[in-house]
Amino acid sequence: MANTENRGGFGGKLAAILAAAGSAIGLGNIWRFPYITSENGGGAFILIYLGCILFLGLPLLIAEFAVGHNTKKNPIDAFATIKRGWGWLGAMGLISVTLIMGYYFVIAGWTLNYTIASATDAIGSDFGGFFHNFTTGTWMPLIFAYLFIFANHFIITGGVQGGIEKASKIMMPLLFAILIALAIYSLWMPAGREALANVFTPDFSMVTGKSFLAAMGQAFFTLSIGMGAMLIYGSYFKDGTKIAGTAISVVSLDTIVALMAAVIIFSAGVENESGPQLAFVAMPKVFSTMPMGGVWSTLFFLLLGLAALSSTISMHEAVTSYFVEKRGMSRRKGAWVVTIIALVLATAASLSLGDWSGFTIGGMNIFSLLDNFTSIVMLPLLGILTAVFVGWIWKKEDMRKELTAEGGVDKATYPVIRFLLRYVCPVLVSVVFIFGIVDFIKTL
Ligand code: PFF
Repeated sequence: MANTENRGGFGGKLAAILAAAGSAIGLGNIWRFPYITSENGGGAFILIYLGCILFLGLPLLIAEFAVGHNTKKNPIDAFATIKRGWGWLGAMGLISVTLIMGYYFVIAGWTLNYTIASATDAIGSDFGGFFHNFTTGTWMPLIFAYLFIFANHFIITGGVQGGIEKASKIMMPLLFAILIALAIYSLWMPAGREALANVFTPDFSMVTGKSFLAAMGQAFFTLSIGMGAMLIYGSYFKDGTKIAGTAISVVSLDTIVALMAAVIIFSAGVENESGPQLAFVAMPKVFSTMPMGGVWSTLFFLLLGLAALSSTISMHEAVTSYFVEKRGMSRRKGAWVVTIIALVLATAASLSLGDWSGFTIGGMNIFSLLDNFTSIVMLPLLGILTAVFVGWIWKKEDMRKELTAEGGVDKATYPVIRFLLRYVCPVLVSVVFIFGIVDFIKTL
């Protein structure tokens, strides 16, 4: 039974921007972007990344908003409404975002523990040891992941306006305030400025074919492309909310936050300690040597936690909308189903770093499997398919109307976006995808 009445929506334009920027800005910007950048040649990688954001990410984000806004439906029904038989594309996105939730909530839980441990000065001086003991433990990481999942559940059951919109309006300004404070503080530290200059100086010798895949994957991940999260938010846009303008705001905010996060992290002089531990091991170590380090460390992890929460609510909402609108459940019940799935997956992902680390497939534990499968396989695939759907399958006239009338795309820009979606995105993403897959298989 379909249940699409009273589906709710955002109160206005600002709410739409804040919620969608909240989805985009997440662990991807503050935890992932800096370490991927340092692994791929710094400045050179950033240039490739910015190209991917502009020529692939932005048109795809506009496309996804347009599909949601045009149909005002959950991801599966949205695709199926525009073209019968295409609901599977929405389903693919929802499956992917569910898998992402599995490991994302685990890291989100870490940020909670690190916020508390920083505030109470409980990290100690063995930063690597603290991280290792905590993340490979059984109960502690689970408890924090569960707390995070329940916070998420609470917001989702509050509804689109009473939950998501309200939370975004509180969290996002707070997030920007902390980010700006940290950036000013880190640039004020003289030791860091030199390290910063090193990172932003392009080193093209470190750029390989894999860097292109990493840049593209990062661009899609950070903009939450193809997962139904942006689609469902687009479906909640109030009439009169311009799609293109909103997408440009979201992309700009997201990019600024990623670059600022890189500034904060690299100006702390940690560019040599790359990898996923960058934020959790190197940063507390740096903070510990600074005046009022505990306060700054607390703020840093609070920032990560806020960014994670505003992203996970969009993931949860996309999947919840399926259970509510396609399965006829109440919002409360639909949210519970998603929460339970998240609890189960996060449990497996978290335990796979410790007690269950012996269980691997292709050398990867459950945590890395969820991460690699979604970012290397699903993200590019969903990007290609979304571009093909909007560029080739959606009736030309209908798409033009959606983009130029409600969407707010002017007549001169429209052909550019259409060209990018029809040709540039599918071709470029396919090439990078195939080379990336071949490269990845070689590393197994
Ligand atoms: N964009 C988020 C980040 O950069 O952390 C991650 C994300 C959110 C991915 C929502 C997918 C999604 F549907």
